[in-house]
This record gives sequence, C-alpha cells and structure tokens, in this order.
Amino acid sequence: MIDFKQKVIELVSENVKELDKNEIKDLIEVPPNYDMGDYAIPCFRLAKIFRKAPNMIAEELVNKIGDNKYFQKIENEGPYLNFFINRIVLVESVLKEVNSKDNKYGATNVGKDRNVIVEFSSPNIAKPFHIGHIRTTVIGHSLYRIYDYLGFNALAINHLGDYGTQFGKLIVAFKKWGDRKVIEGNPIPELLKLYIKFHEEAEENPELEDKAREWFYKLENNNEEAKELWQWMRDVSLKEFNRVYDMLNIKFDSLAGESFYSDKMPEIVDLMEKEGILTDSQDAKIVDLEKYDMPPALIKKKDGSTLYLTRDIAAAKYRKETYDFYKNIYVVGSQQNLHFKQLKKILDLMGYGWSEDCIHVPFGMVSLGEGTMSTRKGRVVFLEDVLTKAVEKTKEIIGSKNPNLENKDKIAEQIGIGAVVFQELSNSRIKDYVFSWDRALTFEGETGPYVQYTHARANSVLSKAGIEVDENVDYSLLTNEEAINLVRLLDNFPNIVIAAMEKNEPSIITRHIVDIAQAFNKFYHECPILVDDNELKKARLLLVKSAKIVLKTGLYLIGVEAPEKM
Ligand code: ARG
Repeated sequence: MIDFKQKVIELVSENVKELDKNEIKDLIEVPPNYDMGDYAIPCFRLAKIFRKAPNMIAEELVNKIGDNKYFQKIENEGPYLNFFINRIVLVESVLKEVNSKDNKYGATNVGKDRNVIVEFSSPNIAKPFHIGHIRTTVIGHSLYRIYDYLGFNALAINHLGDYGTQFGKLIVAFKKWGDRKVIEGNPIPELLKLYIKFHEEAEENPELEDKAREWFYKLENNNEEAKELWQWMRDVSLKEFNRVYDMLNIKFDSLAGESFYSDKMPEIVDLMEKEGILTDSQDAKIVDLEKYDMPPALIKKKDGSTLYLTRDIAAAKYRKETYDFYKNIYVVGSQQNLHFKQLKKILDLMGYGWSEDCIHVPFGMVSLGEGTMSTRKGRVVFLEDVLTKAVEKTKEIIGSKNPNLENKDKIAEQIGIGAVVFQELSNSRIKDYVFSWDRALTFEGETGPYVQYTHARANSVLSKAGIEVDENVDYSLLTNEEAINLVRLLDNFPNIVIAAMEKNEPSIITRHIVDIAQAFNKFYHECPILVDDNELKKARLLLVKSAKIVLKTGLYLIGVEAPEKM
C-alpha cells in the first residue's frame, strides 16, 4: 500500500536539505478537514532556517516541488503547505491491497517469534459465572485474537480460581447439607446455595469458619476426601463454564489455575527467603513494601497456608520459564490494581528483570442498578442467562421480520451473542457501568447487529450482482465524497488494529467498524450499485467487497461472528 505521508516527507526532504527526515515527519500535521488537504506542513520553523517569511517559504516550496503523481494538488495557504492526495491513486492502492490480502488485510508479522500470554476470564470455581466476568472474558478474547493477528504467538490462559479457603467452606457446607445428585443436576446454583448457607450459618455459629480452615488445610496437605470433593466441584463447575465459552467461541491453551501452583509454593517461599525480602510479622511472612508506598504483602499465613498473591508469584515465574514470554498480560478488573502493583514490585525485588513485561490490563466495574453484585448474598446476573436471553430475543425478531431465513437458529445465536459482546467492547474498558437488561438487549443504533447487518447487506449485493468482482476497474469512478470517505476508513484499518494492540483496547476496533458501517450505508444510499453502466457497477462492487472484507475482519477481532445473511 502506498504510504502517502512518507511521500510528503520525501518531497519536502528533497527540497529542504537542512532538515532530516525525522524532523520533517514531526512537522507534518493533519488538517481538521479534507478540504484543507490530507497533510499540511506549517512553515514557521523553516522561517529561521531560510530567514524568510513563512508564507514566502510555503509558496516557494510549492513551485519547487511542482507536480507529482501521488498528489492531485500541492498548494500554499498562507504559511501552510497543503498536500491533497491523488484520490484515484489512493483508491486503487487501498482496494488492491484489501482484495489481495483478503482476510489477512491489516495482519502483520511484527510479533514473529514472540510469545504473548493473554490471561483472561479466570473465574472462581463453584461460584457463578456472572455478568461481572463478561468483561475480562470478552476483552481478553479480543486481545488474544488481535495479538495473534499481528503475528505474535498468542497464548490464552485461564487462571482458574480453583483454590483457596472458599473450598474449605464448600466442603464443610457440602458435608453438612449437600446432596451430590442435586448438585450435579444444576451445579453452580446449587453450590452457590451451599456457599450462601454457609455464610448465614457461620454468623450464628463461628466455629464453622474454623472447620472450613481445617478442611482447606487438609486439601493443601493432600487429604484424600478433601481432594476428591475438590476435584468433583472443579469438574462440574468447568462443565458449566465451558458451555459459556462454547457460546462465545473461546478456547484456552491452558487452564493452569491457582491449584496448579499449589505444589510450587514451598520453593517460592524459599526463594523469597533467600533473596531476603521476607519479614516475619505475627508468625506470618510478609514483604514490606512501605518504601514503595504500598501496604505489606502477605505471603504465608501463620497456619502455613499460602495466598492468592503467592500463587501469582509462582505463576509468573512458571510462565517465564515455560513460555519465555515477550508480554504476560493480565486482563483483570481495576479492583485488583494494588494486587498487581504488589506482584510486579515483588517480582522486581526478586531480581526478575522481566517483571516489566508483566502487564495488568484493568477494566471498570459492572454493577447492578440496585447495588453491587454479591455472590454471598446471591445477588448476581448469570452470564449464561444474558447470552440466552439475547438469543431468544433475536429469534423473536427474526420470527416476525424474516421467518423464512435459512439456518435461523444458528444466525440468531450469532446475532444475539454478538450484540452482547459488541456492546461490551463499545466503550473504553476502564469505564464503570451499570448493567441493564435494556442496554444489553438493544439492537438499534451503533450496535453489533447494525454492523453485522451492514456486512450481510454488502454480501447480498455481491451475490445479487452475480458477476466476478476483480481489481480491473476504473478507479476514477470511486472518487466521489461517499466512496472516498469509505476508502479512507478502510485505509486506516491496519493502523487501528495496531493502536488497539498498543493500548490493549479492543473498543478502538469496535468504534472503527461502526464508522465503516456508517460510511458504507451512506455510500450505499447515495450510489446505486447494480446500475446498467457496467464499468460503474464493477467499480462500486469492488468497494462493496472491500468493505465487507474489512467489516468481517473487524468483527472477528472483537470476537463477533459475521453471518452472511440475516
Ligand atoms: N479468580 C480471580 C477472581 O475471580 C481472578 C484471577 C485473576 N488472575 C490472576 N492471575 N490473579 O477475582
């Protein structure tokens, strides 16, 4: 693809020997609208060099540069030197690139031979997979696809919360009130009931808490009964989680969660001891982080059991040894900011230079209108319910609007689930929001179904046309306002994918494909496609096909399907 900005740099550089190319690059501005050109160079800085008024310099440069095939016009507006891209050259360059690369348009190999771990989802076993988990799950999945697309060797890790004192509580509750058959019929809600009951009873009867600690201790020390119960709860929970992952098309490369690191605890604690970073505090082991303005980090409790943080230290070290990662990304809510700051600092204190490559990607909170979500109080919205409801609603809409659609169940899933995922990735991840059913189930406006519908519409025009679309078209027929706006957005797509990667922010892609869909629909309204003029038809069809390709890739990168028909 032609890099027009580079062309500007070259043209100016040939005529202004006093500045090097990087200095020229820094001078380039993008005017607020295209009527003023695609690129501009303000000549104020050149005034000092040439000891002339900036507008005279601009005028002289216009004359020196002369005509150039990449620009239809180069002119000066006072002290500004303005470059207007040759639209025909632009359109040809972009459309040829999109069509030849097809579903690899925007893909790169910048990540070649680099392992990037994207850790996401990581729900706690035996607890509901609720709407609060949707963010880590879909943001992480999208980042995984983005890194993969850019040529990194991306690894999806689910750091399951399958260890910790809550298992002591569950075992106690199960032994007192549980029934295997009932739980197997409906695992998570039934386990949740037990968990809630435990907390209610423990308020009256605090020794239950001691019993729970005892059982967790047994679990950590390989007691048969404890292990069997734990394994069973893990299995039934995972089965439930997998249903949701299947709905979202998510696969993990590793499910090494907290329990995986349980046997690596003694080694980690020893190592920290040797590094001299552990301090005794009331029979427990901590890392004093006062110097770094952080509260102390508890590493080992006085009863000898280790903690969430200890397991994360072991996990980071294990990942470095196993994958030699380039980046180790944690997609975890901003409530855990301190946890990850402590983790990084501790890894640094242990002498691991790679602590720098451990990156916490936080996101804001989802709350329920009536108050915060609380697993203990049973106030949760299950993620699966949200997805299922979205699919049901889509089925109703298809039933009334397009009852003869082939494959309608499958398409209803793609649309309903796509709507929820798209919505989730529409805003920058750091924003908090209040969950509402209305919002989750809105299909109008700048939504997933809107973009999917645009993609399907493009597809339908292409199949109606019934001719082979190729690159042998008259590109000058695609220089009108609506066409060129669309082409510019397609042109920018590869930069957008890179920006989304650099900021770990999928919403950059979401917003861009909304822009593309809107520009496409404007083009589609203003420029009839299946016209009698064969040359015009061929040219417009090529643009339609290009837009379809980019929309589909964009949706793919945020984890949303693009049905061909809807
Ligand atoms: N299981 C934890 C939770 O639900 C999230 C785990 C995040 N990942 C990590 N490596 N600490 O809050």
